[in-house]
Amino acid sequence: LLPPRNMESRFGVVLVLTLAAASSARESCNCVTNKRTLECAEDTSGNCLCMAVGSNQRVNCSVLTSKCLLMKAEMSSAKARRFPRPEHGFLDNDGIYNPDCEDNGIFKARQCNQTDTCWCVNTAGVRRTEKGDKNLRCSELVRTNWIFIELRHKERSKAFHPRAVANDLRQIIQNRYKLNPKYITAIDYEYPLIHIDLMQNASQKSNGDVDIADVAYYFEKDVKRDSIFHPGHAFNLSINGEPLDVEKILIYYVDEKNPEFSMKHLTAGVIAVMVVVILTIITGITVLVITRRRRTGKYEKVEIKEMGEMRRVQNL
Ligand SMILES: *[C@@H]1O[C@H](CO)[C@@H](O)[C@H](O)[C@H]1NC(C)=O
Ligand SMILES: *[C@@H]1O[C@H](CO)[C@@H](O)[C@H](O)[C@H]1NC(C)=O
Ligand SMILES: *[C@@H]1O[C@H](CO)[C@@H](O)[C@H](O)[C@H]1NC(C)=O
Ligand SMILES: *[C@@H]1O[C@H](CO)[C@@H](O)[C@H](O)[C@H]1NC(C)=O
Repeated sequence: LLPPRNMESRFGVVLVLTLAAASSARESCNCVTNKRTLECAEDTSGNCLCMAVGSNQRVNCSVLTSKCLLMKAEMSSAKARRFPRPEHGFLDNDGIYNPDCEDNGIFKARQCNQTDTCWCVNTAGVRRTEKGDKNLRCSELVRTNWIFIELRHKERSKAFHPRAVANDLRQIIQNRYKLNPKYITAIDYEYPLIHIDLMQNASQKSNGDVDIADVAYYFEKDVKRDSIFHPGHAFNLSINGEPLDVEKILIYYVDEKNPEFSMKHLTAGVIAVMVVVILTIITGITVLVITRRRRTGKYEKVEIKEMGEMRRVQNL
């Protein structure tokens, strides 16, 4: 048995801890739309507000977080993990980098990395110019007003019903990402491919509207099973109650203004498409790259990406 004095002081400690927990529990909350947040607290109208990891920006958990802040948070969480990197592994650095964001969360038009290599991006944070040095100027943030998504699902014995694909995906995009359905301009299905068009001009977008670039990013992460949502809000893509197992997703970003790549080898008259992001749905892509290269000597993610980019551009 403890001597009485000790018990008393322990009780005091417990009491203090309980009070502290109670007072913070009253206000703290889970950020539904962003798992990479800290210091969450409910405001008087019941919205959960938090600090995004990696930046000191407040985010509103009742709406999607901007892609720029998401990428920043993701890069900063990745840095915290310090597993030794494989010597010859490489990452798709064009896909995710540590971006500079404006105070309202949108991308700065010019992005640079630590080696003072700079490039201009669109509102989806995707590079739209050649890379340059730190004298590179980006006069404006060009808007991505069309996002073309192509999914390929795994082989299955029976195709989905096209109308169910369109209905269910429309519901998901509308309910989970809160995108006004008027911006979902097409959903087509042709086994095993699904095509989704999101279109949103600056003139159409009103103040509270979520941006299609943010929606596409949340969707991409959900499809890759690396959801940005709080773990309590995980979900599996399904059509008519049957799982939709995506094995590949391609996302094309089309800007209001043509990209400024020097595409000398491309035919004139190519106007629309620019960067293609190919995301193979495999966890541990880096490991895959290395093992495949060792075994077959010919798999390189970068090559595939470039080939895909060129082929698609020429097709249009
Ligand atoms: C958070 O978002 C909700 C839903 O759009 C909105 O009603 C609320 O005013 C926002 N709160 C803040 C502090 O921005
Ligand atoms: C910066 O970008 C250049 C050009 O793409 C690349 O070679 C370099 O590795 C990058 N540096 C960092 C630190 O990301
Ligand atoms: C959106 O912008 C594009 C290109 O500027 C234009 O062709 C299209 O008609 C616009 N759509 C709407 C609904 O304003
Ligand atoms: C999603 O599917 C996996 C595997 O089929 C299952 O374990 C998990 O419980 C499902 N999650 C939800 C939220 O339905």
